[in-house]
Amino acid sequence: MKITMIGAGYVGLVSGACFADFGHEVTCVDKDPTKIDALLGGIMPIYEPGLEALVASNVAAGRLSFSTDVTAGVAGADAVFIAVGTPSRRGDGHADLSYVHAAAKEVGAAIAGDCVIVNKSTVPVGTGDEVERIVREAVGDTHRVAVVSNPEFLREGAAIGDFKRPDRIVIGSEDDWASDVMRQVYRPLFLNEAPILFTGRRTAELIKYAANAFLATKITFINEIADLCEAVGADVQDVSRGIGLDNRIGAKFLHAGPGYGGSCFPKDTLALLKTAQDNDVPMRIVESVVQVNDNRKRAMGRKIVNALGGDARGKKVALLGLTFKPNTDDMRDAPSLAIVQSLIDAGASVSAYDPEGMKVAADLLPDVTMADTAYAAVKDSDAVVIVTEWDAFRALDLAEIARLVRTKALVDLRNIYRRADVERHGFAYHGIGMP
Ligand code: UDX
Repeated sequence: MKITMIGAGYVGLVSGACFADFGHEVTCVDKDPTKIDALLGGIMPIYEPGLEALVASNVAAGRLSFSTDVTAGVAGADAVFIAVGTPSRRGDGHADLSYVHAAAKEVGAAIAGDCVIVNKSTVPVGTGDEVERIVREAVGDTHRVAVVSNPEFLREGAAIGDFKRPDRIVIGSEDDWASDVMRQVYRPLFLNEAPILFTGRRTAELIKYAANAFLATKITFINEIADLCEAVGADVQDVSRGIGLDNRIGAKFLHAGPGYGGSCFPKDTLALLKTAQDNDVPMRIVESVVQVNDNRKRAMGRKIVNALGGDARGKKVALLGLTFKPNTDDMRDAPSLAIVQSLIDAGASVSAYDPEGMKVAADLLPDVTMADTAYAAVKDSDAVVIVTEWDAFRALDLAEIARLVRTKALVDLRNIYRRADVERHGFAYHGIGMP
């Protein structure tokens, strides 16, 4: 099949490369000539494990190409995926659909045959209806077109695995022909027996938001239990295990930490609340989740100040990890941003090291001294803080760190160390949700 991706960002690029790997002929189109030039030269615009090699092998096999030309890209395509950004709109937090609408217009104008338009961007309920209206207006009766919703559930850092071995594929379609085309597009995955769920288009759009809001709720729930654990002398990791073994609850996304961040949960929970508001349907649980998570990121700053003995003035704090999660260079809504701000407000100086996020972080955090290694970052510090659970931080040479720091305090916001192992080196250990 011939597939076109509009948008060579995170979702478009990963999906495009994976579809090509399944044997489809894929063109990724992006307006940004610098990005396309870089991709043509084999340089990835994002860090995602395995992506560079996957792109290279499919380009070499002639199945994957890149272009800035929508018209050429869309001509002859069986399916055109819209995978452009839907950032939070300034002011009301709703998803900004201007890129989606602009893409729909351009695709509509470029369509030269029967074609299914697939919305992969995360879009509020009803957007598919609007995209269909825009495309039909441009195409008229000359060709058969239909718009389907096909939300993505890729996790950054694990996106290729998630694409190739999904828990499920969701297709929201109002048209049998379009459903058949989508069956062909995902045929290689059915052979792996990935469950495919066909629903109405609006339902598919809502599934994406409901899934993300539910996961954000699960994380926030365990974070609040962690606070209670600290107050009553219980251990949140054991509570997680104890409840997670119940199949009805499930073990995943019960890891207490500094609050969720990233490109999806913060933005999608806000957009869901906006849809709820517009429809006069209160969603108090999600409202609380958003508020509790925002407060939590700042509370992590206070936790670090407490570990410094209650006064941060003149002290130096070393942050290990800045990205919102490991295996990405993504800093969007990363807890580190709020943590740095509250430490600086409290009078501390901050140094940091992140294996992949330094370049992006340096622009966002001009007051932070960026170090070349974890060991350089911790030198002369009064507290070492693990903010992101990169594998490289799981087996630090604690004896060496003990020699380098000024005060031995380890604040482990991801609970990747055991208290006894850290205390053996003379550190005071501060984990999350433990006595
Ligand atoms: C998420 C969804 O998982 C994915 O399906 C969707 O398509 C996009 O949003 P992503 O944002 O890449 O993916 O990361 P994810 O692994 O879900 O983590 C999100 C945030 O939650 C991170 O800040 C992470 O640190 C935090 N988290 C996750 C926890 O604090 N505890 C957990 O148990 C799990």
